[in-house]
Amino acid sequence: MQDIIDQLNTKREAARLGGGQKRIDAQHAKGKLTARERIELLLDKDSFQEWDMFVEHRSTDFGMADNKIPGDGVVTGYGTIHGRLVFVFSQDFTVYGGSLSEAHAEKIGKIMDQAMKVRAPVIGINDSGGARIQEGVASLAGYADIFQRNVMASGVIPQISLIMGPCAGGAVYSPAITDFIFMVRDSSYMFVTGPDVARTVTHEEVSAEQLGGASAHTETSGVADGAFENDIEGCLMLRAFFDFLPANNQSPLPVRPTDDPRDRIEVSLDTLVPEDPNQPYDIKELILKVIDETHFFELKPDHAKNIVIGFARMEGRTVGIVANQPMVLAGCLDIHSSIKAARFVRFCDAFGIPIITFVDVPGFMPGTAQEHGGIIKHGAKLLYAYAEATIPKVTVITRKAYGGAYDVMSSKHLRGDVNLAWPSAEIAVMGAKGAVEIIFRAQMSDAEKIAQRTEEYSDKFANPFIAASRGFIDDVIMPHNTRLSICHSLEMLSNKKLENPWRKHGNIPL
Ligand code: HXC
Repeated sequence: MQDIIDQLNTKREAARLGGGQKRIDAQHAKGKLTARERIELLLDKDSFQEWDMFVEHRSTDFGMADNKIPGDGVVTGYGTIHGRLVFVFSQDFTVYGGSLSEAHAEKIGKIMDQAMKVRAPVIGINDSGGARIQEGVASLAGYADIFQRNVMASGVIPQISLIMGPCAGGAVYSPAITDFIFMVRDSSYMFVTGPDVARTVTHEEVSAEQLGGASAHTETSGVADGAFENDIEGCLMLRAFFDFLPANNQSPLPVRPTDDPRDRIEVSLDTLVPEDPNQPYDIKELILKVIDETHFFELKPDHAKNIVIGFARMEGRTVGIVANQPMVLAGCLDIHSSIKAARFVRFCDAFGIPIITFVDVPGFMPGTAQEHGGIIKHGAKLLYAYAEATIPKVTVITRKAYGGAYDVMSSKHLRGDVNLAWPSAEIAVMGAKGAVEIIFRAQMSDAEKIAQRTEEYSDKFANPFIAASRGFIDDVIMPHNTRLSICHSLEMLSNKKLENPWRKHGNIPL
């Protein structure tokens, strides 16, 4: 018996040491934490219950038979974040570069299966050289087994990826399927093919950081939802992020008690929208003044900045915020902003999170880049996402709601539940100037007449009343009361039941 206990302790010690002190030091020297240190920071103190510490790979090629490290390069198990259950895997770069063997993949699959059984979220910490080269196709099979699980879990339990080192080749597709990807600046990268392949095939000279670092994916590609300065900030911020999410697609939303009164008046909002319709203002000011305690977790803040998305709370309950940003491209919808918002709306809908939409949109972005890039199809994604969503939808039009973009942005016609407008709202096919240039083209040489027509058009349409007279707007509210109106709406909607017709699945324009 003592012999077994001794063996147990030796194996535990070996597993904890991973690839050894030298490699742990090398990991630290790169500014990275180890797999276990990351889990410790991410989870509540002493809550982590580790599984499969004694799993070893079964490879015998290339001298691997005598080279086994208990745990095989990934730490898996479950624990809590602020008391709520979560499953975690954390790849250990000190063990064969965190590469994925058959056994390593089985460990990840096992906690994913368990997470599905008990309907709890999964967080994956990625730090890996990819497929375990010594294992060949067994490793590729392991990846595919994880992908399949990611897809089955999609929309059932939240899945979050934290990229804290290399994540390359087909390995990127597991995080890609998860709901959210966060990266660490300067020490993480993601790409399907690396700089060497790029050099050979496309003759580009590009560093790993330029090709797939945090900036590339939070600004340009939009693959990642956010970036953190280092591992410590990453783990701590993820704890705050996790608090917004329900455990699964049938569980209630988490509630955080708040002292922020529902009838908090924000007089400054009455002057937020400038008199000049072409002058921008910062929609984030409105978001921060309406939500609980100014606590807004913005997603993709550096990508497609013409739309703002993120989580907040109203009276303690999670809500998703989608808002046009007049400060960037006048808040118009384009390919990137449509895709960014559509995926977010679909996440919220899958997990029962109400959406508040703030609208100030002059229309879709014109030009060949957009048309040839497929704005027809990509804009339709956002329309589709709003139209299929059955969660509570509250919309506030602050200024422009022009053309097709008016319809798309959670309008009454797409089953918006409560559609409100500020007195500054302008709901029309287009702005007065553009409209007059089209319908009075023959009079264009007469500047005085055109000015008069523009004023007439503006008087008629640059207000919320025509839409309100048809019931497309439920009420015109004073900006300072926006928080109270939204709280009333969400309370009224708290028992909302709406079902779409049965189908195998819809065919969103991908
Ligand atoms: C086995 C690996 C490994 C791998 C790294 N190691 N990657 N072992 N399989 N894929 C080992 C190294 O041998 C080394 O062992 C240790 O991990 C650390 O690696 P270093 O190269 O010293 O570290 P670093 O200089 O930081 O470079 C990290 C790296 C590099 C950029 C990730 O190791 C690398 O290029 N690895 C190969 C990446 C790759 O081509 N993977 C396959 C991709 S295809 P020692 O003993 O010296 O510490 C793929 C397909 C997935 O993943 C398909 C899914 C569908």
